[in-house]
Amino acid sequence: MSLKIGIVGFGSFGQFLAKTMIKQGHTLRATSRADYSHFCLQMGIQFFRDVAEFLEFDNDVILICTSILSLSEVLSSMPLTRLQRPTLFVDVLSVKEHPRALLLRVLPVESDILCTHPMFGPDSGKDGWKDLTFMYDKVRIRDEAICSKFIHIFASEGCRMLQMSCEEHDKLAAKSQFITHTIGRTLAEMDVKSTTIDTKGFQTLVQLKDTTTRDSFDLYSGLFVYNRFAVQELEHLERALHRVKDMLLQRKSEELGTQKAEC
Ligand SMILES: NC(=O)c1ccc[n+]([C@@H]2O[C@H](COP(=O)([O-])OP(=O)(O)OC[C@H]3O[C@@H](n4cnc5c(N)ncnc54)[C@H](OP(=O)(O)O)[C@@H]3O)[C@@H](O)[C@H]2O)c1
Repeated sequence: MSLKIGIVGFGSFGQFLAKTMIKQGHTLRATSRADYSHFCLQMGIQFFRDVAEFLEFDNDVILICTSILSLSEVLSSMPLTRLQRPTLFVDVLSVKEHPRALLLRVLPVESDILCTHPMFGPDSGKDGWKDLTFMYDKVRIRDEAICSKFIHIFASEGCRMLQMSCEEHDKLAAKSQFITHTIGRTLAEMDVKSTTIDTKGFQTLVQLKDTTTRDSFDLYSGLFVYNRFAVQELEHLERALHRVKDMLLQRKSEELGTQKAEC
């Protein structure tokens, strides 16, 4: 059965998800800070400039695809009393404890909450979602049928489905996704570029720089600001770089010191 899904935040990731949902036959509506009415018309999506009007429509699911940094502002600008019936709220933010806490705080008690993180994006998912990981946490679910239908959107594309707590997600994401983006952004700060003598390893680094900087800086900084585990991983990285530098300097002084003695 197809779902009526209302997307809040129709930027790059919202549009990316919408394409597959349309392909699967779901009915989509969208609202966003910017005006995407022209683009939505081409995709067969009804676009609402007025959030209240958007909420009054009969949505099975409200899918939140806004930036991590703007979530609080976006939720507080939504007149939630205009909802016509209990609705499943799903978020796809790349951090999980923060939306979980906010959604539990602001949503009406009759609204169900599913916190998710598709661990892929417009680059890694451009050729399909097969074997890409979809993490989810059923934070507050009473209507299991609607929730299962939503989860099936990803399962039916062949995603690797992973049920996990928001806390566990943030611990792991700080060690993996945040570090990946930090290395990519650091390489960009160094302005690394392909050379005529690239090794495969270096090509991988250039690619990492390119893919991570294609995501907005809002997204990257959100991974740090709203994941309480990220700061310690940044410190680990800094300390590790210093240790590697110290090892090299020590070896250099041993080597050159030996050579001097031999002369
Ligand atoms: N890109 C990925 O690969 C990926 C993967 C998994 C999850 N996610 C998550 O998906 C969400 C969207 O990611 P994204 O790649 O599209 O880029 P993003 O920069 O994280 O978010 C862009 C979206 O946030 C909205 N937005 C930003 N500031 C706003 C504000 N002050 N008020 C209202 N809306 C605001 C934008 O609306 P307008 O366009 O209308 O300005 C747009 O819809 C993020 O939470 C991200 O963590 C992204």
